[in-house]
Amino acid sequence: MQNHAEILRTERLCRTFSSPAGEVRALRDVSLSVRAGGLTILNGKSGSGKTTLINLLATLDRPTSGQVFFEGRDMTSLGERERDRIRRTRAGIVFQSIALMSNMTAYENVEFGLRVAGFPASGRKERALACLELVGLSKRAAHLPQELSGGEQQRVAIARAIAHQPAVVFADEPTAQLDSTMGLQVIAVFKKLIEEQGATIVMTTHDPDLMQIADQVYTLRDGLLTDGREDGHDPV
Ligand SMILES: Nc1ncnc2c1ncn2[C@@H]1O[C@H](COP(=O)(O)OP(=O)(O)OP(=O)(O)O)[C@@H](O)[C@H]1O
Ligand SMILES: [Mg+2]
Repeated sequence: MQNHAEILRTERLCRTFSSPAGEVRALRDVSLSVRAGGLTILNGKSGSGKTTLINLLATLDRPTSGQVFFEGRDMTSLGERERDRIRRTRAGIVFQSIALMSNMTAYENVEFGLRVAGFPASGRKERALACLELVGLSKRAAHLPQELSGGEQQRVAIARAIAHQPAVVFADEPTAQLDSTMGLQVIAVFKKLIEEQGATIVMTTHDPDLMQIADQVYTLRDGLLTDGREDGHDPV
């Protein structure tokens, strides 16, 4: 059933890491298609290649071979500047490796993200505050990251990632540090983004409860997509 356009596609994506200890084939021939306007979940056991895959999808890393097409463009063939520009303006990223600015408050972090994405100056304050409210952090807007809990920091990172209304949000284990209530709240924020703004969310998770609310699920095992993957159902 193809009533949603494809926003992201990979073609035989491979990523091999070389180290003195030997080679690790972290991803092997991964071809997948992400439909626009839904929640796509990448799952699999620890070490199966989820982070490697989402890093490639978000163009934070380059494949050993294969391609990533985003909105029809082959990202692997673009120069670094153009890739950075597309990522900054069209994508939002929630990864542990991309930390908050430690010298900026929660509000300033979100506002800074808007500035980097080229969001109009006149609307930044209102939008930043609205996004902090969306993740339940209005009362912590003036706090620095070190004055926040791990889960609160994670939610600021989510507010920052979604604030410029990106076409796609990439999130690597966004709920792992949160208790189940807060995890569900984050998912509710994602769902709202999908419904109200037509955004696409791609996230990795271990949590089996979350698979049920996904529109598409891809499962990795030892760097391969499993045959038993579920290509998802169409949202009602
Ligand atoms: N920079 C690297 N150098 C060498 N091997 C790596 C590197 N990054 C990842 N790997 C290996 O690639 C494989 C996939 O790692 P990846 O981080 O993608 O797994 P994951 O599914 O995200 O696991 P987790 O659930 O624990 O986060 C693992 O075997 C890992 O050891
Ligand atoms: Mg990982």
